[in-house]
Amino acid sequence: MFEPIDKISNLSEFKEDVFKGKIFVFKKSEITLKLVQEIRKNILIEYDGQLEKLHLLDNCEEISSKLVTNLKKIPEFKKLFKIFLEEIKFFHEKSYWDQFRVRVAPAQNKFSYREASRISSHRDTWGTNIHQQINWWAPISSISETNTMIFYPDYFARAVKNSTSTWDLNTYLEHRKREDFSYPSAPQLLEELPSDANVQSVNIEPGEILCFSGCHLHSSSKEESDNTRFSYEIRTICQDDLDNRREAPNTDCDLQWQFPKIFRNIDDNSPLKLLAE
Ligand SMILES: [Fe+2]
Repeated sequence: MFEPIDKISNLSEFKEDVFKGKIFVFKKSEITLKLVQEIRKNILIEYDGQLEKLHLLDNCEEISSKLVTNLKKIPEFKKLFKIFLEEIKFFHEKSYWDQFRVRVAPAQNKFSYREASRISSHRDTWGTNIHQQINWWAPISSISETNTMIFYPDYFARAVKNSTSTWDLNTYLEHRKREDFSYPSAPQLLEELPSDANVQSVNIEPGEILCFSGCHLHSSSKEESDNTRFSYEIRTICQDDLDNRREAPNTDCDLQWQFPKIFRNIDDNSPLKLLAE
């Protein structure tokens, strides 16, 4: 279900495939390895041990929180990622992206600091209600079966109970401004998935990059692990997909509004605006 690819030969067909639920894995290249190396170089400033074994330190929580904070908004990461998007022939005029985030998924799943935590099952589009959203995700350290990202491919087009009808991004942001973290950062899954649900775990190497529709139901692995996981992610939206309503199906998102404000134009940093606004 994870289709390896070097470069996009037909962008429209590629997008159609993504919006139908196909998941691509871009192969390693000089630029993707350079990006991993650049992130690791910045991690080294705070932590010079083996990334997968960070949890063995007593102060691993403190280091993880510091790392994810320090690694936000380093412009070099986005610069390199843009070159990657150009090289694979994805980038064309008027595209938007959100923040470049490095995440730490702890081995034992016992602490939680936003980007330093395991994440439960969700669709990224539950937070924005924009179905043209494409997710890019990649490991920075080697990942193991027990600490990776997992997909529920059969639920791409199957609805699940969730809290999108009552969740609101603006309310969340207002709470966060007051440093009140009691409001959930994203809508939640409100049902237990069957234990025999088809689960596909991601097993890719640093330098490879996963590309999938933001409508996919996915989560962090649920098991305890011997390894801490470092990964990065970013989301993109292309103006021509918005214009042509080329998008993934809205399976079960009941948000009242669309929330484009987390997306910025890749070239001039102007905010994404949707016509309906
Ligand atoms: Fe996600």
